Amino acid sequence: MFLKKAPVVKGVFFFGHALEFGRDPLTFLLKLQDNYERIAQLRIVYLKVNLLLNAEDIKYVLQENSKAFVKGRAYRVLGQVLGNGILTSHGEFWHRQRKLAQPAFYKQRLALLVDIMNDETMTLIKRWEASLQQENGSSILPMTKEMMATTLVIVTKSLFGTGIDANKIAHISQDIDTLNEILSLQMRTPVRFPMWVPTTINQRFKASSQRLDAVIQEIISTRRNALESNPEAQFDDLLQMLITAKDEETGEQMTDKQLRDEIVTLFIAGHETTAMAMSWAMYLLAQHPDIVQKMRRESNEVLGENLPNFENIRQLTYTAQVVNEVLRLYPPAWAISRQVMNDQALGEYLIPAKEQVFFCPYLLHRNKAYWTNPEEFNPDNFLPERIKQRPSYAYLPFGGGPRLCIGNNFALMEMQIMLALLVKHFDFEKMENVIPDPQITLKPKGNMPIKVRMSSEF
Ligand code: HEM
Repeated sequence: MFLKKAPVVKGVFFFGHALEFGRDPLTFLLKLQDNYERIAQLRIVYLKVNLLLNAEDIKYVLQENSKAFVKGRAYRVLGQVLGNGILTSHGEFWHRQRKLAQPAFYKQRLALLVDIMNDETMTLIKRWEASLQQENGSSILPMTKEMMATTLVIVTKSLFGTGIDANKIAHISQDIDTLNEILSLQMRTPVRFPMWVPTTINQRFKASSQRLDAVIQEIISTRRNALESNPEAQFDDLLQMLITAKDEETGEQMTDKQLRDEIVTLFIAGHETTAMAMSWAMYLLAQHPDIVQKMRRESNEVLGENLPNFENIRQLTYTAQVVNEVLRLYPPAWAISRQVMNDQALGEYLIPAKEQVFFCPYLLHRNKAYWTNPEEFNPDNFLPERIKQRPSYAYLPFGGGPRLCIGNNFALMEMQIMLALLVKHFDFEKMENVIPDPQITLKPKGNMPIKVRMSSEF
Protein backbone atom coordinates (compact mmCIF):
# COMPACT_ATOMS: atom_id res chain seq x y z
CA MET A 1 0.00 0.00 0.00
CA PHE A 2 1.22 3.51 -0.79
CA LEU A 3 1.68 5.37 2.47
CA LYS A 4 1.21 9.11 2.78
CA LYS A 5 3.29 11.53 4.86
CA ALA A 6 1.55 12.89 7.92
CA PRO A 7 -0.05 16.31 7.32
CA VAL A 8 2.51 18.95 8.30
CA VAL A 9 1.45 21.90 10.44
CA LYS A 10 3.00 25.07 9.03
CA GLY A 11 5.67 26.41 11.39
CA VAL A 12 8.11 29.32 11.41
CA PHE A 13 11.68 29.41 10.09
CA PHE A 14 14.23 27.51 12.24
CA PHE A 15 12.12 27.16 15.40
CA GLY A 16 9.22 25.36 13.73
CA HIS A 17 6.55 25.26 16.41
CA ALA A 18 8.90 25.53 19.40
CA LEU A 19 7.89 29.08 20.32
CA GLU A 20 4.14 28.66 19.96
CA PHE A 21 4.25 25.32 21.74
CA GLY A 22 6.49 26.72 24.48
CA ARG A 23 4.22 29.71 25.12
CA ASP A 24 0.94 27.89 25.64
CA PRO A 25 1.04 24.22 24.67
CA LEU A 26 -2.53 23.35 25.64
CA THR A 27 -4.23 26.10 23.62
CA PHE A 28 -1.95 25.35 20.68
CA LEU A 29 -2.72 21.63 20.78
CA LEU A 30 -6.47 22.11 21.26
CA LYS A 31 -6.47 24.21 18.10
CA LEU A 32 -4.75 21.38 16.24
CA GLN A 33 -7.33 18.93 17.53
CA ASP A 34 -10.04 21.15 16.02
CA ASN A 35 -8.29 21.37 12.67
CA TYR A 36 -6.76 17.95 12.11
CA GLU A 37 -8.52 14.64 12.13
CA ARG A 38 -6.10 11.87 12.78
CA ILE A 39 -2.51 13.01 12.82
CA ALA A 40 -0.57 16.29 12.60
CA GLN A 41 3.17 16.69 12.29
CA LEU A 42 5.00 19.40 14.24
CA ARG A 43 8.62 20.43 14.29
CA ILE A 44 10.43 21.55 17.41
CA VAL A 45 13.57 23.04 15.83
CA TYR A 46 14.96 19.82 14.26
CA LEU A 47 12.73 17.27 16.04
CA LYS A 48 9.77 15.98 14.06
CA VAL A 49 6.91 14.90 16.28
CA ASN A 50 3.64 13.39 15.14
CA LEU A 51 0.61 14.25 17.23
CA LEU A 52 -1.95 11.43 17.27
CA LEU A 53 -5.55 12.46 17.75
CA ASN A 54 -7.50 9.28 17.32
CA ALA A 55 -8.18 6.71 20.07
CA GLU A 56 -7.78 3.72 17.71
CA ASP A 57 -4.29 4.83 16.60
CA ILE A 58 -3.26 5.38 20.22
CA LYS A 59 -4.48 1.89 21.07
CA TYR A 60 -2.36 0.56 18.22
CA VAL A 61 0.74 2.37 19.54
CA LEU A 62 0.31 1.50 23.22
CA GLN A 63 -1.17 -1.95 22.97
CA GLU A 64 -1.46 -3.68 19.63
CA ASN A 65 2.01 -2.86 18.31
CA SER A 66 3.66 -1.62 21.49
CA LYS A 67 7.03 -3.28 20.77
CA ALA A 68 7.53 -1.08 17.71
CA PHE A 69 6.91 2.13 19.67
CA VAL A 70 9.48 2.57 22.41
CA LYS A 71 10.02 5.25 24.99
CA GLY A 72 12.13 7.94 23.33
CA ARG A 73 13.67 11.30 24.02
CA ALA A 74 11.39 12.51 26.83
CA TYR A 75 12.14 9.36 28.81
CA ARG A 76 15.89 9.72 28.23
CA VAL A 77 15.58 13.16 29.82
CA LEU A 78 13.67 11.63 32.77
CA GLY A 79 16.30 8.88 32.98
CA GLN A 80 18.84 11.41 34.24
CA VAL A 81 17.00 11.26 37.56
CA LEU A 82 15.08 7.99 37.39
CA GLY A 83 17.98 5.94 36.02
CA ASN A 84 16.95 2.69 34.40
CA GLY A 85 13.77 2.19 36.44
CA ILE A 86 10.44 0.75 35.29
CA LEU A 87 9.23 4.01 33.78
CA THR A 88 12.26 4.59 31.57
CA SER A 89 13.71 1.15 30.76
CA HIS A 90 13.01 -1.04 27.73
CA GLY A 91 12.76 -4.56 26.41
CA GLU A 92 13.76 -7.59 28.41
CA PHE A 93 15.20 -5.56 31.30
CA TRP A 94 11.96 -3.59 31.71
CA HIS A 95 9.91 -6.78 31.46
CA ARG A 96 11.88 -8.46 34.23
CA GLN A 97 11.76 -5.43 36.53
CA ARG A 98 8.05 -4.94 35.96
CA LYS A 99 7.46 -8.62 36.81
CA LEU A 100 9.48 -8.22 40.00
CA ALA A 101 7.69 -5.03 41.08
CA GLN A 102 4.14 -5.97 40.05
CA PRO A 103 3.29 -8.07 43.14
CA ALA A 104 3.93 -4.99 45.28
CA PHE A 105 0.78 -3.54 43.71
CA TYR A 106 -1.48 -6.58 43.98
CA LYS A 107 -4.79 -5.90 45.70
CA GLN A 108 -3.86 -7.66 48.93
CA ARG A 109 -0.71 -5.52 49.20
CA LEU A 110 -2.66 -2.32 48.53
CA ALA A 111 -5.11 -3.31 51.27
CA LEU A 112 -2.22 -2.91 53.72
CA LEU A 113 -1.81 0.73 52.69
CA VAL A 114 -5.38 1.81 53.55
CA ASP A 115 -4.40 2.61 57.15
CA ILE A 116 -1.56 4.89 56.05
CA MET A 117 -3.91 6.75 53.70
CA ASN A 118 -6.59 7.06 56.40
CA ASP A 119 -4.10 8.22 59.05
CA GLU A 120 -2.50 10.86 56.87
CA THR A 121 -5.87 12.18 55.69
CA MET A 122 -7.04 12.43 59.31
CA THR A 123 -3.84 14.31 60.18
CA LEU A 124 -4.62 16.73 57.36
CA ILE A 125 -8.22 17.12 58.55
CA LYS A 126 -7.06 17.88 62.12
CA ARG A 127 -4.58 20.43 60.81
CA TRP A 128 -7.26 22.16 58.77
CA GLU A 129 -9.72 22.10 61.67
CA ALA A 130 -7.14 23.77 63.93
CA SER A 131 -6.49 26.43 61.31
CA LEU A 132 -10.25 27.05 60.82
CA GLN A 133 -10.76 27.43 64.55
CA GLN A 134 -8.02 30.03 64.73
CA GLU A 135 -9.49 31.96 61.84
CA ASN A 136 -13.16 32.12 62.81
CA GLY A 137 -14.42 29.16 60.85
CA SER A 138 -12.87 29.51 57.42
CA SER A 139 -9.40 29.54 56.01
CA ILE A 140 -7.92 30.19 52.57
CA LEU A 141 -5.42 27.41 51.94
CA PRO A 142 -2.78 26.99 49.21
CA MET A 143 -4.25 23.73 47.97
CA THR A 144 -1.32 22.50 45.87
CA LYS A 145 1.05 22.84 48.81
CA GLU A 146 -1.40 21.08 51.14
CA MET A 147 -1.84 18.18 48.74
CA MET A 148 1.88 17.89 47.94
CA ALA A 149 2.62 17.61 51.68
CA THR A 150 0.03 14.91 52.45
CA THR A 151 0.65 12.78 49.36
CA LEU A 152 4.41 12.99 50.07
CA VAL A 153 3.96 11.38 53.49
CA ILE A 154 1.59 8.76 52.03
CA VAL A 155 3.97 7.68 49.28
CA THR A 156 6.96 7.80 51.67
CA LYS A 157 5.31 5.59 54.30
CA SER A 158 3.88 3.25 51.64
CA LEU A 159 7.29 2.74 50.09
CA PHE A 160 9.48 2.74 53.19
CA GLY A 161 7.14 1.81 56.03
CA THR A 162 5.54 3.76 58.84
CA GLY A 163 8.78 3.71 60.84
CA ILE A 164 10.45 6.10 58.42
CA ASP A 165 11.13 9.63 59.59
CA ALA A 166 8.98 11.48 57.03
CA ASN A 167 10.90 14.69 57.81
CA LYS A 168 13.92 13.15 56.16
CA ILE A 169 12.02 13.03 52.88
CA ALA A 170 10.39 16.42 53.44
CA HIS A 171 13.94 17.82 53.61
CA ILE A 172 14.64 16.72 50.06
CA SER A 173 11.27 17.70 48.62
CA GLN A 174 12.81 21.00 47.54
CA ASP A 175 15.46 18.99 45.67
CA ILE A 176 12.79 16.90 43.98
CA ASP A 177 11.04 20.11 42.88
CA THR A 178 14.32 21.42 41.50
CA LEU A 179 14.94 18.21 39.55
CA ASN A 180 11.39 18.22 38.15
CA GLU A 181 11.73 21.83 37.10
CA ILE A 182 15.04 21.24 35.31
CA LEU A 183 13.83 18.08 33.58
CA SER A 184 10.72 19.89 32.42
CA LEU A 185 12.86 22.66 30.96
CA GLN A 186 15.09 20.15 29.19
CA MET A 187 12.11 18.36 27.69
CA ARG A 188 10.99 21.55 26.01
CA THR A 189 14.40 22.57 24.69
CA PRO A 190 15.85 20.21 22.10
CA VAL A 191 19.40 21.54 22.57
CA ARG A 192 21.14 21.51 25.93
CA PHE A 193 24.62 21.56 27.40
CA PRO A 194 25.94 18.14 28.42
CA MET A 195 26.01 17.52 32.18
CA TRP A 196 29.80 17.98 32.45
CA VAL A 197 29.55 21.64 31.41
CA PRO A 198 29.39 23.56 34.72
CA THR A 199 26.36 25.74 33.91
CA THR A 200 24.32 27.02 36.86
CA ILE A 201 21.48 24.68 35.93
CA ASN A 202 23.78 21.66 35.67
CA GLN A 203 25.30 22.47 39.05
CA ARG A 204 21.90 22.82 40.71
CA PHE A 205 20.87 19.57 39.08
CA LYS A 206 23.91 17.70 40.36
CA ALA A 207 23.60 19.03 43.90
CA SER A 208 19.91 18.08 44.15
CA SER A 209 20.53 14.71 42.54
CA GLN A 210 23.30 13.91 45.01
CA ARG A 211 21.16 14.82 48.02
CA LEU A 212 18.26 12.70 46.73
CA ASP A 213 20.56 9.73 46.10
CA ALA A 214 22.18 10.01 49.53
CA VAL A 215 18.82 9.84 51.31
CA ILE A 216 17.55 6.92 49.19
CA GLN A 217 20.84 5.04 49.60
CA GLU A 218 20.68 5.51 53.37
CA ILE A 219 17.14 4.11 53.44
CA ILE A 220 18.17 1.07 51.38
CA SER A 221 21.29 0.41 53.51
CA THR A 222 19.37 0.77 56.78
CA ARG A 223 16.84 -1.79 55.58
CA ARG A 224 19.49 -4.21 54.29
CA ASN A 225 21.27 -3.98 57.66
CA ALA A 226 18.03 -4.54 59.57
CA LEU A 227 17.33 -7.64 57.47
CA GLU A 228 20.86 -8.94 57.87
CA SER A 229 20.73 -8.70 61.64
CA ASN A 230 17.24 -10.20 61.75
CA PRO A 231 16.26 -12.14 58.61
CA GLU A 232 12.85 -12.91 60.14
CA ALA A 233 11.97 -9.24 60.48
CA GLN A 234 8.67 -8.33 58.80
CA PHE A 235 8.27 -5.00 57.03
CA ASP A 236 4.98 -4.51 55.25
CA ASP A 237 6.07 -2.00 52.67
CA LEU A 238 6.99 -1.75 49.01
CA LEU A 239 10.73 -1.49 49.73
CA GLN A 240 10.56 -4.89 51.38
CA MET A 241 8.76 -6.37 48.39
CA LEU A 242 11.39 -5.00 46.04
CA ILE A 243 14.39 -6.03 48.19
CA THR A 244 13.14 -9.60 48.55
CA ALA A 245 11.71 -9.98 45.02
CA LYS A 246 13.40 -12.84 43.14
CA ASP A 247 13.41 -13.55 39.43
CA GLU A 248 11.41 -16.78 38.99
CA GLU A 249 13.91 -18.34 36.59
CA THR A 250 17.31 -17.17 37.80
CA GLY A 251 16.55 -16.45 41.45
CA GLU A 252 18.39 -13.15 40.99
CA GLN A 253 17.57 -10.19 43.20
CA MET A 254 17.94 -6.47 42.54
CA THR A 255 21.29 -4.79 43.05
CA ASP A 256 21.50 -1.57 45.08
CA LYS A 257 21.63 0.43 41.84
CA GLN A 258 18.48 -1.24 40.48
CA LEU A 259 16.74 -0.79 43.80
CA ARG A 260 17.73 2.87 43.83
CA ASP A 261 16.33 3.40 40.33
CA GLU A 262 13.05 1.64 41.09
CA ILE A 263 12.57 3.40 44.41
CA VAL A 264 13.26 6.84 42.96
CA THR A 265 10.95 6.02 40.03
CA LEU A 266 8.05 4.93 42.23
CA PHE A 267 8.63 7.82 44.54
CA ILE A 268 8.69 10.49 41.85
CA ALA A 269 6.08 8.90 39.56
CA GLY A 270 3.75 8.38 42.50
CA HIS A 271 4.00 11.67 44.31
CA GLU A 272 3.47 14.73 42.15
CA THR A 273 0.94 12.99 39.86
CA THR A 274 -1.37 12.16 42.77
CA ALA A 275 -0.81 15.55 44.43
CA MET A 276 -1.79 17.36 41.24
CA ALA A 277 -4.83 15.14 40.72
CA MET A 278 -5.97 15.86 44.29
CA SER A 279 -5.40 19.60 43.85
CA TRP A 280 -7.51 19.68 40.68
CA ALA A 281 -10.15 17.59 42.46
CA MET A 282 -10.39 20.24 45.17
CA TYR A 283 -10.55 23.00 42.57
CA LEU A 284 -13.43 21.32 40.76
CA LEU A 285 -15.30 20.46 43.96
CA ALA A 286 -14.90 24.07 45.13
CA GLN A 287 -17.07 25.01 42.13
CA HIS A 288 -19.64 22.22 42.52
CA PRO A 289 -21.19 22.15 46.00
CA ASP A 290 -24.01 19.92 44.66
CA ILE A 291 -21.46 17.23 43.79
CA VAL A 292 -19.78 17.62 47.20
CA GLN A 293 -23.16 17.05 48.83
CA LYS A 294 -23.79 13.92 46.82
CA MET A 295 -20.36 12.58 47.74
CA ARG A 296 -20.97 13.44 51.39
CA ARG A 297 -24.25 11.53 51.40
CA GLU A 298 -22.47 8.52 49.94
CA SER A 299 -19.62 8.78 52.46
CA ASN A 300 -22.07 8.96 55.36
CA GLU A 301 -24.10 6.02 54.05
CA VAL A 302 -21.14 3.76 53.29
CA LEU A 303 -18.75 4.71 56.07
CA GLY A 304 -20.99 5.99 58.85
CA GLU A 305 -18.64 7.02 61.66
CA ASN A 306 -15.88 4.69 60.46
CA LEU A 307 -12.83 5.16 58.32
CA PRO A 308 -12.69 3.54 54.87
CA ASN A 309 -11.43 -0.04 54.59
CA PHE A 310 -10.48 -2.10 51.57
CA GLU A 311 -13.99 -3.62 51.30
CA ASN A 312 -16.18 -0.57 51.68
CA ILE A 313 -14.04 1.61 49.39
CA ARG A 314 -15.57 -0.35 46.52
CA GLN A 315 -19.02 0.86 47.56
CA LEU A 316 -17.95 4.50 47.21
CA THR A 317 -19.01 4.36 43.57
CA TYR A 318 -19.99 8.00 43.13
CA THR A 319 -16.68 9.11 44.65
CA ALA A 320 -14.91 6.83 42.16
CA GLN A 321 -16.83 8.51 39.32
CA VAL A 322 -15.73 11.91 40.62
CA VAL A 323 -12.10 10.76 40.73
CA ASN A 324 -12.30 9.51 37.14
CA GLU A 325 -13.90 12.74 35.99
CA VAL A 326 -11.18 14.83 37.67
CA LEU A 327 -8.55 12.75 35.86
CA ARG A 328 -10.43 13.31 32.61
CA LEU A 329 -10.42 17.10 32.83
CA TYR A 330 -6.99 17.46 34.41
CA PRO A 331 -4.92 14.36 33.61
CA PRO A 332 -1.62 14.83 35.51
CA ALA A 333 0.21 12.90 32.76
CA TRP A 334 -1.08 15.31 30.12
CA ALA A 335 1.18 14.08 27.29
CA ILE A 336 2.74 10.70 26.48
CA SER A 337 5.29 10.03 23.75
CA ARG A 338 6.97 7.19 21.93
CA GLN A 339 9.67 6.80 19.28
CA VAL A 340 9.40 4.43 16.32
CA MET A 341 12.31 2.06 15.82
CA ASN A 342 11.60 1.29 12.13
CA ASP A 343 9.23 2.74 9.56
CA GLN A 344 5.69 2.19 10.77
CA ALA A 345 2.29 2.59 9.16
CA LEU A 346 -0.56 4.22 11.04
CA GLY A 347 -3.49 3.56 8.71
CA GLU A 348 -2.58 5.30 5.45
CA TYR A 349 0.22 7.32 7.06
CA LEU A 350 3.91 6.54 7.29
CA ILE A 351 5.86 7.31 10.45
CA PRO A 352 9.51 7.07 9.40
CA ALA A 353 12.07 5.36 11.64
CA LYS A 354 13.35 7.45 14.60
CA GLU A 355 10.49 9.96 14.50
CA GLN A 356 8.47 10.65 17.62
CA VAL A 357 4.76 10.16 18.08
CA PHE A 358 2.93 11.74 20.95
CA PHE A 359 -0.60 12.11 22.18
CA CYS A 360 -2.26 14.04 24.95
CA PRO A 361 -4.79 12.61 27.35
CA TYR A 362 -5.68 16.29 27.91
CA LEU A 363 -6.82 16.55 24.27
CA LEU A 364 -8.30 13.10 23.95
CA HIS A 365 -10.40 13.71 27.07
CA ARG A 366 -11.84 16.82 25.41
CA ASN A 367 -12.36 15.33 21.97
CA LYS A 368 -15.96 15.94 20.91
CA ALA A 369 -15.97 12.65 19.01
CA TYR A 370 -15.87 10.85 22.37
CA TRP A 371 -17.39 13.25 24.92
CA THR A 372 -20.50 15.43 24.97
CA ASN A 373 -19.93 18.86 26.55
CA PRO A 374 -16.30 17.95 27.23
CA GLU A 375 -15.52 21.09 29.27
CA GLU A 376 -18.27 20.36 31.78
CA PHE A 377 -17.38 18.63 35.07
CA ASN A 378 -19.82 15.76 35.03
CA PRO A 379 -19.10 12.59 37.05
CA ASP A 380 -21.99 10.89 35.19
CA ASN A 381 -19.56 10.50 32.30
CA PHE A 382 -18.37 7.50 34.30
CA LEU A 383 -21.69 5.75 34.80
CA PRO A 384 -21.14 2.15 33.64
CA GLU A 385 -23.46 2.53 30.65
CA ARG A 386 -21.62 5.65 29.48
CA ILE A 387 -18.23 3.96 29.77
CA LYS A 388 -19.47 1.15 27.50
CA GLN A 389 -20.40 3.63 24.77
CA ARG A 390 -16.84 4.96 24.36
CA PRO A 391 -13.76 3.38 22.80
CA SER A 392 -11.60 2.30 25.75
CA TYR A 393 -8.61 4.35 24.56
CA ALA A 394 -10.61 7.60 24.61
CA TYR A 395 -9.78 7.79 28.32
CA LEU A 396 -6.14 7.34 29.25
CA PRO A 397 -5.13 9.02 32.51
CA PHE A 398 -2.85 6.06 33.29
CA GLY A 399 -1.71 5.23 29.75
CA GLY A 400 -2.44 1.76 28.43
CA GLY A 401 -1.11 -1.55 27.12
CA PRO A 402 1.85 -3.25 28.79
CA ARG A 403 3.24 0.09 30.03
CA LEU A 404 0.03 0.98 31.88
CA CYS A 405 0.79 2.85 35.12
CA ILE A 406 1.77 0.31 37.76
CA GLY A 407 0.42 2.60 40.50
CA ASN A 408 -3.07 3.23 39.02
CA ASN A 409 -4.99 1.37 41.73
CA PHE A 410 -2.76 2.85 44.42
CA ALA A 411 -3.55 6.38 43.17
CA LEU A 412 -7.27 5.72 42.69
CA MET A 413 -7.57 4.29 46.19
CA GLU A 414 -5.62 7.17 47.72
CA MET A 415 -7.80 9.76 45.99
CA GLN A 416 -11.01 7.98 46.91
CA ILE A 417 -10.03 7.77 50.57
CA MET A 418 -8.85 11.35 50.80
CA LEU A 419 -11.90 12.77 49.04
CA ALA A 420 -14.45 10.63 50.89
CA LEU A 421 -13.04 11.87 54.21
CA LEU A 422 -12.48 15.50 53.24
CA VAL A 423 -16.05 16.03 51.94
CA LYS A 424 -17.41 14.64 55.20
CA HIS A 425 -15.75 17.45 57.13
CA PHE A 426 -15.50 20.50 54.88
CA ASP A 427 -17.06 22.73 52.27
CA PHE A 428 -14.87 24.41 49.67
CA GLU A 429 -15.05 27.63 47.74
CA LYS A 430 -13.07 28.73 44.70
CA MET A 431 -11.13 31.98 45.22
CA GLU A 432 -9.79 32.63 41.74
CA ASN A 433 -9.59 31.10 38.27
CA VAL A 434 -6.68 28.71 38.03
CA ILE A 435 -5.21 27.73 34.69
CA PRO A 436 -3.12 24.62 34.06
CA ASP A 437 0.62 24.87 33.60
CA PRO A 438 1.78 21.80 31.68
CA GLN A 439 5.18 20.87 33.07
CA ILE A 440 6.12 17.18 33.40
CA THR A 441 2.78 16.89 35.17
CA LEU A 442 -0.21 19.17 34.68
CA LYS A 443 0.36 21.68 37.46
CA PRO A 444 -1.81 24.66 38.33
CA LYS A 445 -0.37 28.14 37.77
CA GLY A 446 0.01 29.70 41.23
CA ASN A 447 -0.70 27.91 44.48
CA MET A 448 -4.46 27.41 43.98
CA PRO A 449 -5.99 29.23 46.97
CA ILE A 450 -9.24 27.59 48.10
CA LYS A 451 -11.47 28.66 50.96
CA VAL A 452 -12.19 25.78 53.33
CA ARG A 453 -14.86 25.84 56.05
CA MET A 454 -16.44 23.24 58.31
CA SER A 455 -19.32 21.51 56.60
CA SER A 456 -22.63 22.74 57.95
CA GLU A 457 -23.88 19.16 57.63
CA PHE A 458 -21.10 17.65 59.73
C1 HEM B 1 -3.00 10.12 39.61
C2 HEM B 1 -1.83 9.55 39.70
C3 HEM B 1 -1.05 8.96 38.56
C4 HEM B 1 -1.13 9.21 37.22
C5 HEM B 1 -2.07 10.17 36.50
C6 HEM B 1 -0.15 8.36 36.57
C7 HEM B 1 0.04 8.30 35.19
C8 HEM B 1 0.89 7.40 34.57
C9 HEM B 1 0.97 7.22 33.14
C10 HEM B 1 0.16 7.95 32.08
C11 HEM B 1 1.90 6.26 32.90
C12 HEM B 1 2.31 5.69 31.54
C13 HEM B 1 3.44 6.47 30.93
C14 HEM B 1 3.77 5.99 29.53
O1 HEM B 1 3.14 5.10 28.97
O2 HEM B 1 4.70 6.54 28.96
C15 HEM B 1 2.44 5.87 34.18
C16 HEM B 1 3.43 4.94 34.35
C17 HEM B 1 3.95 4.61 35.59
N1 HEM B 1 3.51 5.04 36.82
FE1 HEM B 1 1.94 6.25 37.17
N2 HEM B 1 0.51 7.64 37.52
C18 HEM B 1 -0.02 7.96 38.75
C19 HEM B 1 0.34 7.44 39.96
C20 HEM B 1 1.35 6.54 40.16
C21 HEM B 1 1.73 5.97 41.43
C22 HEM B 1 1.01 6.23 42.75
C23 HEM B 1 2.83 5.19 41.20
C24 HEM B 1 3.64 4.37 42.18
C25 HEM B 1 3.58 4.42 43.47
C26 HEM B 1 3.13 5.25 39.78
C27 HEM B 1 4.18 4.61 39.16
C28 HEM B 1 4.31 4.48 37.79
C29 HEM B 1 5.33 3.66 37.14
C30 HEM B 1 6.43 2.88 37.84
C31 HEM B 1 5.10 3.73 35.76
C32 HEM B 1 5.87 3.03 34.65
C33 HEM B 1 5.18 1.72 34.29
C34 HEM B 1 5.85 0.95 33.14
O3 HEM B 1 6.34 1.58 32.21
O4 HEM B 1 5.87 -0.28 33.22
N3 HEM B 1 2.21 6.07 39.18
N4 HEM B 1 1.79 6.56 35.19
